[in-house]
Amino acid sequence: MSRGVFIAFEGIDASGKSTQARRVASKYGALLTFEPGDTPMGAQLRTWLLDATLLMTSQSEALLMLADRAQHVATVIEPALVAGRSVVTDRFAASTLAYQGYGRGVDLGGLIAATNMAVGSCIPDLTILLDVPTDVAAARRASNNADRFESESQDFHDRVREGFLSLASMNAELWLVLDGTQDEDVIAGLIDERVAALDWF
Ligand code: TYD
Repeated sequence: MSRGVFIAFEGIDASGKSTQARRVASKYGALLTFEPGDTPMGAQLRTWLLDATLLMTSQSEALLMLADRAQHVATVIEPALVAGRSVVTDRFAASTLAYQGYGRGVDLGGLIAATNMAVGSCIPDLTILLDVPTDVAAARRASNNADRFESESQDFHDRVREGFLSLASMNAELWLVLDGTQDEDVIAGLIDERVAALDWF
């Protein structure tokens, strides 16, 4: 049986990635999943990770994100891919490098090594980055009940955005970077063009 196709959507908060991830998964009958939190263990980690009132060091935050990912890969993503089901995930490894690495300043080399431990050979066939300026994203976000990340400064979100763009430029053949301020249907068309060229069976 052929292995499923694995696609990750990335971007800063309110970049529009969740809408597109949902659409692509439904179009291709792929399993739609997300990070952090889409396993029983991950759901508990997510409440800690998003709780802005729970003090947490950047290193702890990074390691909890990676624990969530290790569980997600081993119990959800990899079994589906091996069974021939394609998978679309709303966030994956690049989020940790962008948020905890570029955003928080956690050592990137260490994060990459720990990410390798968490994901093994389970690497997306394509990562789609919806890039939006941080002021546009901030205006899209509801201002009440901001979580640990939403309540961060614009500087933090700028570093995360630049982080995603750097990661994409380092692995250009495995990434599709789109201007997320374009019309939703235009973005959908550009995504579909690239996704259709993947090795579906
Ligand atoms: P998400 O549920 O995707 O939030 P949103 O839909 O608002 O983008 O992710 C929750 C938050 O977790 C988001 O602010 C980004 C953050 N995050 C990290 O900091 N590192 C990670 O590795 C992941 C997966 C998410």
